[in-house]
Amino acid sequence: MARYDRSTLLLATIAVLIFYIFYIHLSERPGPVAQSSLKNGGKASAGSSQRNPSPRIVIITMNTQETTYDILSLSNKFSYANKHGYDIQVDYEGSGPWHKLDMIENAINKQRYDWIWWMDFDTLITNKTIQIADIIEETLEKHPNPNSVSMMLTADCWPMNTGSMIYRGDPQILEFLDLIRKCGKANPERSEQDCIRDVVGVNDDPQQHPAGAAVSKKWAQRFTYVPQYKINAFPKEIDCYDKESRAWVRGDFVIHFAGAWAYLHMDDPTGFLMRKYKGEIID
Ligand SMILES: *[C@@H]1O[C@H](CO)[C@@H](O)[C@H](O)[C@H]1NC(C)=O
Repeated sequence: MARYDRSTLLLATIAVLIFYIFYIHLSERPGPVAQSSLKNGGKASAGSSQRNPSPRIVIITMNTQETTYDILSLSNKFSYANKHGYDIQVDYEGSGPWHKLDMIENAINKQRYDWIWWMDFDTLITNKTIQIADIIEETLEKHPNPNSVSMMLTADCWPMNTGSMIYRGDPQILEFLDLIRKCGKANPERSEQDCIRDVVGVNDDPQQHPAGAAVSKKWAQRFTYVPQYKINAFPKEIDCYDKESRAWVRGDFVIHFAGAWAYLHMDDPTGFLMRKYKGEIID
């Protein structure tokens, strides 16, 4: 009997303790949580970025033809994504460069990402200690109207290079992607890069604004340039730089061997450059 009483007492004490711990937990939590979601108001994106200080990012790329640098390009991107907890999506089939748009659309439709980073396959991340999330944050901080920025693009010696570009995981971007596709259908000679350039109205000739000047103006306000060397540096072999005229140097974040065939007259110029710069990667 005495033994039974003692264990009942013990159980009762534990139950009271558990109740007490729960009670403290419950009474402490709701206040600040409710307050911070109130403070963030209706703005879902601003709210989620405040609650979640590290944005959810996916790196997307594609390769539809076997190259001599498949493992090099893939292992470089996967190890970078793993290091920083980013997702990565690679497609191995698709209709050429236009498939970029489908991949961006798919990533947006997953509704899991704050930002989507497109990288061409002929790129290497050459300083893995740099976080794309920091570049995004820095770009937003410098912008007078950060909430309006949904696309971060770069120029090279031409007004647009879409080898490395960043999109907000915002369903409104789907409208933009449709405009790009429409531009391509109406102008078969234009690449997806040409159409992005023209829809954001970088091209000064109004004839070249396929969606009309008003629409281009709207999308011009939604994008900002990132200096090329920050996310899309070209090596000295490919001297086609934006207005900062800066070739890739060791310690830079990304190298892109865009149009290597036009600059190096040899077999497999991209493979050659990928292997040449592999030794410069900082883990
Ligand atoms: C890599 O990037 C980090 C962050 O910007 C920088 O501090 C470091 O110096 C870079 N590494 C090299 C070897 O330049």
